Amino acid sequence: MRLDKFLAESAIGSRKKVREYIKEGSVKVNGEVIIEPAIEIDENSDIVEYLSEIVVYTGKVYYMFHKPAGCITAKTDAVNKTVFDYFDNTSVKGVFHVGRLDKDTEGLLLLTNDGEFEHKVMHPKKHVEKTYFFWALGSLDEADKNQLEQGICIGQDKEIMTKPAKIEVDKFGLYKDFKHEFESENISSTHHSQLVVSGYLTISEGRKHQVKRMLKAVGCYVVYLKRISIGGLTLDETLEKGSHRPLTEREILKVLA
Ligand code: URA
Repeated sequence: MRLDKFLAESAIGSRKKVREYIKEGSVKVNGEVIIEPAIEIDENSDIVEYLSEIVVYTGKVYYMFHKPAGCITAKTDAVNKTVFDYFDNTSVKGVFHVGRLDKDTEGLLLLTNDGEFEHKVMHPKKHVEKTYFFWALGSLDEADKNQLEQGICIGQDKEIMTKPAKIEVDKFGLYKDFKHEFESENISSTHHSQLVVSGYLTISEGRKHQVKRMLKAVGCYVVYLKRISIGGLTLDETLEKGSHRPLTEREILKVLA
């Protein structure tokens, strides 16, 4: 394996950063300073040191996390719990989250140390679909659904329409008849006789608060949001909120399928 790949996959830094570390003489292989990033090493027998510390090879890691509402998708936060507080420190060295979910959004979040994978999942040109289940105050008629499907203006960047999306209405009626179906801090008993609607919205972009803003643009106020799939990978519902597990090889492929 190439030395720069070995270091990048051992949470020392990005491929670009580790090449810099090698060129500036911070890396030794079997006690000898090496300044050539492309040399081949044997990850099972060679001893690699960065700044005189032995580097332990972790390889690429991929986790599925069932994000609960109430935590922030960030490495650290001065006030709130973050998604990393649900992992032990050693298993997430060099690991980052793939995209973000809002504090009040639940569901499927992927974490990895593989920058290329993250790029493929997140870049709008790669068209990886993400499906969200929602409950919202309001209602959706055929005209609203057509707008969501074809593309809609969502505020700040008015000139840019959203890309075509898929919308499927699941249930609709009065809040008082459905309140047992979901938990939300964004709705109260004063909404008892208001119309609510639930459904699935599938998008292939990742603009800030995109689902909430798309539904707002057709008069719906999201009160519950959960991401249920990314590409061909669906959240494992046996995974309790706040829990995580490694992805299987097949699941990694499914994300990009
Ligand atoms: N869209 C939103 O509005 N919020 C999320 O957390 C994810 C997508």
